[in-house]
Amino acid sequence: MSAPLLAQKPKEAAGNSDLPNVHTLKNDKIEAKITNYGGIVMSLMVPDRTGKMGDIVLGFDDPEHYIRGNPSYFGALIGRYGNRIGHAKFTLEGKEYTLAKNDGDNTLHGGNKGFNQKFWTPKDDQNKLTLTYVSPDMEEGFPGTLTATVTYSLLPSGLRIEYMAKTDKATVVNLTNHSYFNLAGQGNGDVLNHEIMINADRFTPVDQGLIPTGVLQPVAGTPFDFRQAHKIGERINANDQQLKYAKGYDHNWVLNRTGAGMSLAAHVTEPTSGRVMEVWTQEPGVQFYTGNFLDGKITGKGGKKYPFRGALCLETQHFPDSPNKPAFPSTELKPGQTYRTATEYRFSTK
Ligand code: GLA
Repeated sequence: MSAPLLAQKPKEAAGNSDLPNVHTLKNDKIEAKITNYGGIVMSLMVPDRTGKMGDIVLGFDDPEHYIRGNPSYFGALIGRYGNRIGHAKFTLEGKEYTLAKNDGDNTLHGGNKGFNQKFWTPKDDQNKLTLTYVSPDMEEGFPGTLTATVTYSLLPSGLRIEYMAKTDKATVVNLTNHSYFNLAGQGNGDVLNHEIMINADRFTPVDQGLIPTGVLQPVAGTPFDFRQAHKIGERINANDQQLKYAKGYDHNWVLNRTGAGMSLAAHVTEPTSGRVMEVWTQEPGVQFYTGNFLDGKITGKGGKKYPFRGALCLETQHFPDSPNKPAFPSTELKPGQTYRTATEYRFSTK
């Protein structure tokens, strides 16, 4: 006799599961391993110029390691609000909301237990992984039941991430992915030799707590001018107050865009491997972070230690602290509206 159907039902099909599972998306140019815990991209294999595949994102071998602790947010989906909200509060429709202060006086990456620490309900469908998480009303202090759906899919030589969300009360939302890239291979030294172009004429300078001042400052004549590619290490230690506040780059660039579609945000080249990554997005901004909080203490995949500036993040997003900056593009989402955005990481070699 066969067991009753109910008992055979896979755990994840029942809702937000409590066991991490790992999904593989793969073609001949790219292989991504993603867990439903935090929607974390655990590994991303792409070829170098000789065709040799290498893992170019930081992380841990065991999916359960992320549950035990992933303080740097390696590979994770970030929500409800990627980046910082100043003084951990904001006002919406005349009502003040108070959030957790998990980064000095501010809220970072959704609070104490953001979307990076939630089990998402996976649906795996031929190189397309759809993850859903329903965030209850007032979770981490944010109003409205937010139903978030993130879809990872493969491009011929890249990874596409689509974000969707709906709410039942007015709220704010800013979803992103926090992958740490080292195109020389994960754990292979720092990224100071990578060359990066960022398609932005302006950036949002910050105060000491890394909250934007509200000014959109031209990059011209500053170490933030990456309109032409520069090595990351070229100016990172320059005598510049903004770089000092962040111990390197950890700022939001205001992307040059035309229209609302996919637009090039950044282009990164690693000279020894020849790997090239382009980031395309529908978002108005990108946080370029150079792993300034890494310090060699974390041991990651394959026993590799992750040094200071051992990776770079390109977190496509709305600008930090937008809920408190009316002049920034709005992050408000109202009932009946659908939040929709997409980002692609495209790989090649040269
Ligand atoms: C983002 C922030 C950084 C840091 C990392 C996580 O990139 O801007 O300041 O918090 O996340 O360590």
